[in-house]
Amino acid sequence: RKVLSVASECAPLVKTGGLADVAGALPSALAAEGWHMRTLLPGYPAVMKALKRVTEVWHDADLMGGPARVLAGKTRGLDMLVLDAPHLFDRPGSIYLGPDGLDWPDNPERFAALSRVAAEIAVDGAAGWKPEVLHLHDWQAALVPVYLRALGATGEVATLLTVHNIAFHGLAPAEKLEALNLPEWGFTHEGFEYYGKINALKAGLVYADMLSTVSPTYARELMRPQFGMGLDGVLRARAADLVGILNGIDETVWNPETDKEIAGYRTPKRKAANTLALAEEFDLPPGDGPLAVVVSRLTEQKGLDLLLEALPAYCGRGGRLALLGSGDKALETAWLEAARDYPNVGVRIGYDEALSHRMIGGGDAIVIPSRFEPCGLTQLYGLRYGTVPVVALTGGLADTVINANDAALSAGVATGIQFYPVTAQELTGAMTRLCDLFAQRKVWSRMQRKAMKQHVGWGASAPRYAALYEKIGSVE
Ligand code: ADP
Ligand code: GLC
Repeated sequence: RKVLSVASECAPLVKTGGLADVAGALPSALAAEGWHMRTLLPGYPAVMKALKRVTEVWHDADLMGGPARVLAGKTRGLDMLVLDAPHLFDRPGSIYLGPDGLDWPDNPERFAALSRVAAEIAVDGAAGWKPEVLHLHDWQAALVPVYLRALGATGEVATLLTVHNIAFHGLAPAEKLEALNLPEWGFTHEGFEYYGKINALKAGLVYADMLSTVSPTYARELMRPQFGMGLDGVLRARAADLVGILNGIDETVWNPETDKEIAGYRTPKRKAANTLALAEEFDLPPGDGPLAVVVSRLTEQKGLDLLLEALPAYCGRGGRLALLGSGDKALETAWLEAARDYPNVGVRIGYDEALSHRMIGGGDAIVIPSRFEPCGLTQLYGLRYGTVPVVALTGGLADTVINANDAALSAGVATGIQFYPVTAQELTGAMTRLCDLFAQRKVWSRMQRKAMKQHVGWGASAPRYAALYEKIGSVE
């Protein structure tokens, strides 16, 4: 069976967040379920460089303003189709943002092009390879079902749209309808029109055969105004077609026993050497308090402004904190200031994969105070490494962590600390609880051991995706 995954990023080739990890992990997870997955990705410079043994399987003299071709090739165990369209993707820097830090002005064209090509490959095949199912990720691939309809190909190939983050809609002005090659019939309130604009994500939410998101709790949250970001009504209308499937992590990459960045360990007792090394790397004083870590994009979503407010109480209790992240300039500045003000706080601004391993290997706890979190991967790394998650009770964070309340502690099932509502006050309480629990060595190490035993790979979720493909793929 054949499925084409369409995504704007894919680890280890190109990554800005968890979407890349998921797109990179799905092919091997699904192979185990009997599905051959190929991934269609834009030909960013890093992708073009990595591609090996290429053959051209599709071309067009004019795709949204320039020549384009699709190259089939393999790289790092992935079976790729790459959209080589230099006028759209051959640019330095961020894949989404220009040098001014704003979205590339032609982002609508760039990802409409990706979607258009996915639809054409679904209809015509690529050198004889024709998918039965299209697995689309986020707004960048969400126009595919519209293009399929425009090509008269409904019923030929089934579509599943996975929402990784509903905050990004992929808006474009109505004047771009023609440039994006979109049909007039879809530009209505029932279609992809949204307050007078083209909304790519809404197109997928309306026209894809099936919808999924990356945790059961987020699937329910999405239908509420508080989380739906204006699209909750559209999702309520499709409630019967929406499922939540938890992300897994790549356990070959995230495994404390084999991780090359750290002194490998099987039991939490052996973590200590990594904790010492991490404190040293961040120039933190030795101490009896926990060493908490944060590895995150610095955006409103992640709630790290709230953590700044919890620092006085937490550091006052002897807690230490190491943060790695990048994003909003104001947050970056505020965290650098915090590192200056508090000897117990160390900060690295930037993106550093290797350091993220040393942090998750060395941290006692990992803090994720998100205002919303579709799934979240770093709490899963934390569980796997016995690095106890301290998380907001929302989305995937609610589904993957068992809160250390009295009942859970005495039953021995607790794996982390949750707080709600997501306020500085409740987070401060959670950080205090962290210090209290950490001080009870037996309770703490029991939580760590329990955390490390959780199943956080793709074992449970891959069969669920396979069952979905099966269901939509066999309906004509
Ligand atoms: P999101 O996709 O919303 O950013 P996730 O938790 O799903 O959140 O995934 C984030 C991914 O990006 C994780 O693999 C995390 O380790 C990684 N990551 C985020 N920020 C950094 C950073 N500054 N350095 C290294 N890795 C990072
Ligand atoms: C998004 C979400 C994150 C999720 C990731 C992968 O970036 O913010 O919660 O884990 O996608 O699905």
